Amino acid sequence: MQRTLKPFSFELLAGDPGCGARRGRMITRRGVIETPVFMPVGTQATVKGMLPEALDEIGAQIILGNTYHLYLRPGHELIARLGGLHDFMNWSGPILTDSGGFQVFSLGELRKISEEGVAFQSHLDGSRHLLTPESSIAIQEALGADIIMAFDECIPHPAEREYVVDSTARSGRWARRCRQARRPDDGAALFGIVQGGMYRDLRRQSAEELREIGFEGYALGGLSVGESTELMYEVMDYSLPLLPEDAPRYVMGVGTPENLVEGIARGVDMFDCVMPTRNARNGVLFTSSGKLSIKQARYREDESPIDPRCDCYVCRHYSRAYLRHLFRANEILSSVLNTHHNLHYYLNLMAAARVAIEQGSFTVFRRDFYAQREQTVP
Ligand code: GUN
Ligand code: ZN
Repeated sequence: MQRTLKPFSFELLAGDPGCGARRGRMITRRGVIETPVFMPVGTQATVKGMLPEALDEIGAQIILGNTYHLYLRPGHELIARLGGLHDFMNWSGPILTDSGGFQVFSLGELRKISEEGVAFQSHLDGSRHLLTPESSIAIQEALGADIIMAFDECIPHPAEREYVVDSTARSGRWARRCRQARRPDDGAALFGIVQGGMYRDLRRQSAEELREIGFEGYALGGLSVGESTELMYEVMDYSLPLLPEDAPRYVMGVGTPENLVEGIARGVDMFDCVMPTRNARNGVLFTSSGKLSIKQARYREDESPIDPRCDCYVCRHYSRAYLRHLFRANEILSSVLNTHHNLHYYLNLMAAARVAIEQGSFTVFRRDFYAQREQTVP
């Protein structure tokens, strides 16, 4: 076991008596993260439309970056020469990078998997590359990420059992190679990713193998890939208890506000998703009573804020009528304001969930959350 310079730790502060919800604290080399936490996505060394100061102001604790995109453009070596990703993008808080295992697999025809890694063609210029467990770790370390992810395959759904067996075994071997490849003196935490598709026994095998290798945290991958919400909750139900109690648990690429609340209830500590930022740019806004599409004619003369219950900068200063106008006029500020509100909504939801868990009232919080949307707890 490599045991040098690992200032990473995770502590459980409280658990909810009525469900699996946990309140924790992660300590990384660039600061403390209170969990459960939502991580805004900053694929291209920017959370689209957000100044780092604004991210800070709405309570973002950690953001996500992407190996695949930054490797291709502007290049991890360039970013390293310029002082690392934090300096480059002016974000001094913690950064988690995804390994490329998801982005590369979204390329379809443009990629070929072997034991060695994944050969792919750039979506930018068609140039040929090979991403391996070793190169993925080297890229994430060069970027200077505080939490780095094992290189894996995100299995599509539905998938034949035979394919899932082979792919999950390969991701396990890749996870071992990642563990070997990480520089012991780097100081970043390395998380393993559980695969296994929608097969309970394969999820178990994958979780057991990762635990045996040993990681600072554990993620569930291969979710939100087209399966039903019920099936995703079922996979969480049987997979989360397979992970160590005392390490952070991260569900990758999830999800809607409902998914976050249900994940928290099942013991998830970390989430990321493009939904609040991408939906904002498409004029879809999250509110305490559900989603709203700002382009609709009904908001033409609506002087009320996006969400009367929201105290964000946008809701304090702008009407639905103005936001509808900006969207229809295709103005830059439309994306900026919509993103600010949506991320505030997500981060505020997590902050409120943390308080509820501390007070032992997450069950009430969950019921109220659904009541406000005129839904029932699933
Ligand atoms: N993002 C969403 N799902 C996944 C996954 O299965 N693997 C990785 N690396 N990233 C993801
Ligand atoms: Zn708001």
